[in-house]
Amino acid sequence: MTKGGRASAPAKVILFGEHFVVYGNPAILASINRRITVDARTIDKEDKIVIRSDIGLAGEYSSSGFKAIEGGTEARSALDPLHSAITQVLVARGKRTGIKVAISSDVPPGIGLGSSAAACVATVAAVNSLFQKKPSRHKICEMAIESERLIHKNSSGADCYISTFGGLIHYSSKAKGFKEIRSKGGLALVVASTGVRHSTGDLVAGVMRFKERNESLFQNLAKQAADICTQAQSAMVSGRRDKLGTLMNENQAILRQIGVSHYKVDDLIDICGKAGALGAKITGAGGGGAVIALAATKQDSARIAARARAAGYESFEVEIDRKGLI
Ligand code: MEV
Repeated sequence: MTKGGRASAPAKVILFGEHFVVYGNPAILASINRRITVDARTIDKEDKIVIRSDIGLAGEYSSSGFKAIEGGTEARSALDPLHSAITQVLVARGKRTGIKVAISSDVPPGIGLGSSAAACVATVAAVNSLFQKKPSRHKICEMAIESERLIHKNSSGADCYISTFGGLIHYSSKAKGFKEIRSKGGLALVVASTGVRHSTGDLVAGVMRFKERNESLFQNLAKQAADICTQAQSAMVSGRRDKLGTLMNENQAILRQIGVSHYKVDDLIDICGKAGALGAKITGAGGGGAVIALAATKQDSARIAARARAAGYESFEVEIDRKGLI
């Protein structure tokens, strides 16, 4: 091994607008204080790319194909986007070298917190830094979206945007851009996991089938979801947390109608509500995954997380990350 490069990107929560964002609707997202860190090294074997993640997935790509080192078939689908990210950078930089990448994460995977987008963003940045290159954040984000599309071909790009730029944002895939939201007061947020892992690509495909069969209902729900986003943005700016909680519940009712909820999501939402949450909903693709709950105060969020844990669900409070990719 010769040179080294490192980058780190945050996970995310979607507060409003998931799924509909794939069809050009707005969404409100926040990056959170959980991260994926990528260390990249060049290695002598020119045709080899080795990727190892501390969540038990590892594999080696060479001219003779892919070999799983750890994690079997799951390794391939999780690592392919990262392999694509690395080769994109090598092609862009005109380099022919072997690369070894080590990923460390404190983001629970497969529950909607954007771990694969964060891994793509950090990998693009870490491999670029190996060649003393620092492309713009926009360029890094574009490359990460292209890699993510290997596993989720209809990606709205929202996850890569929030992971690259960080903060609390209003994202529009139609306008290909985002605006920072300056919320009044902090947001006391809790993430609770159903423990049911999902494939974002499969859930997005399921919603597409729902849309095809129920076009006018879907358009109507999309309009309601867009309206909720607009109201949520102004509730954040004016610090009306009760209103924000109500809007989260309304957004969840829409997600239920398009078929991405789960009985464990309902159970968690019930637990959070009884523990004092102002509102709660799926965050990300759903189908199980994680729930995001809003509390009035930090004391309340600590209680909500504790109640969810007491009921057997992994749960933790989250802070909004302001740094994005570093
Ligand atoms: C996944 O985190 C969010 C979805 O809206 C998909 C996407 O935006 O690409 C479900």
